Amino acid sequence: MTKDTILEVQKQFEEALAGAKDKLSLEEVKNTFLGRKGKVAGLFSLMGEIPPEARKEVGKMLNELKIDLQAQLDKKISEFSTDKTEKKWVDYTLPGYSMPQGSRHPLTQAVDDMLSIFHRLGFDIAYGPEVETDWFNFESLNFPPDHPARDMQDTFYTEGGGVLRTHTSPVQTRYMSKHQPPIRIVAPGRVFRNEAISARSYCLFHQIEGLYVDKDITFADLKGTIELFCRMYYGKDVKIKFRTSFFPFTEPSAEIDVSCFLCKGKGCRVCKHTGWLEIMGCGMVDPNVLKAVNIDPEIYSGFAFGLGVERMVMMRLGINDIRILFENDVEFLRQF
Ligand code: PHE
Repeated sequence: MTKDTILEVQKQFEEALAGAKDKLSLEEVKNTFLGRKGKVAGLFSLMGEIPPEARKEVGKMLNELKIDLQAQLDKKISEFSTDKTEKKWVDYTLPGYSMPQGSRHPLTQAVDDMLSIFHRLGFDIAYGPEVETDWFNFESLNFPPDHPARDMQDTFYTEGGGVLRTHTSPVQTRYMSKHQPPIRIVAPGRVFRNEAISARSYCLFHQIEGLYVDKDITFADLKGTIELFCRMYYGKDVKIKFRTSFFPFTEPSAEIDVSCFLCKGKGCRVCKHTGWLEIMGCGMVDPNVLKAVNIDPEIYSGFAFGLGVERMVMMRLGINDIRILFENDVEFLRQF
């Protein structure tokens, strides 16, 4: 073995490498030259013939050859694997990756459905803050200073002296303090009460407030609007009951019950065994509320209502525990 033999092998390798046009022929080149019985290994096995004084030099050359060939081969392999022209086989009959699909929370769906009904009845949408001032949440709404609704047991207070709104009614006075009649709005949102948590009540829930103020608005307008809404939301067979009630900010006031869909009026846990579900409070806007926001009650009148979204949703879906609506249990939410 001479230097020339080594150079000759190198030359042969480079020619073979240049001629390799696919992965298979590269594999062949690799076996022929660098395989266990390849040409390089063959050269190494001839080392015994080298006279001792030349061995060191020839050994070094052989090692360098081996490293060089391997490097050239690796480079070519990597070129092949990034080669865009390589034919990629795709089996179009394989099942695809399914994208996990989200859905709107049943409460969001219900609020959207209700808002779209009110939209069709001519109501705009208004929003107010969740952290309210005492004035908007209570005082502007004609709550007497010592009214029990202000009690620490019902209301969450913030350190800065705000209250977490206990209802969406402050949006009424907020809106009226910035707009003149005619006013026709619905205000959806979260409200907070410091209540014992049970199947029927939670410390947080959703309301939709309604307000219609204009000249000559009467209780008949209120009744007509509510009845229309209930029929559009529940279907025309729903039974509706107006019960007299009291709210500081409406006079006269009423509460509205609808027949319980869950037990069909027989009585169950959700309707407290009465067959009826209370869904909203309503009434004619108290003149004191109009005065608080500088609207003349001699000229204008209006009605307001506040409906609880959770009750409606529970009744519609046949859910008998309000807490499930706040647990974000994927198994539950996936059904909608
Ligand atoms: N704000 C009242 C409540 O939370 C509901 C209501 C709204 C009643 C508007 C009358 C008019 O219970």
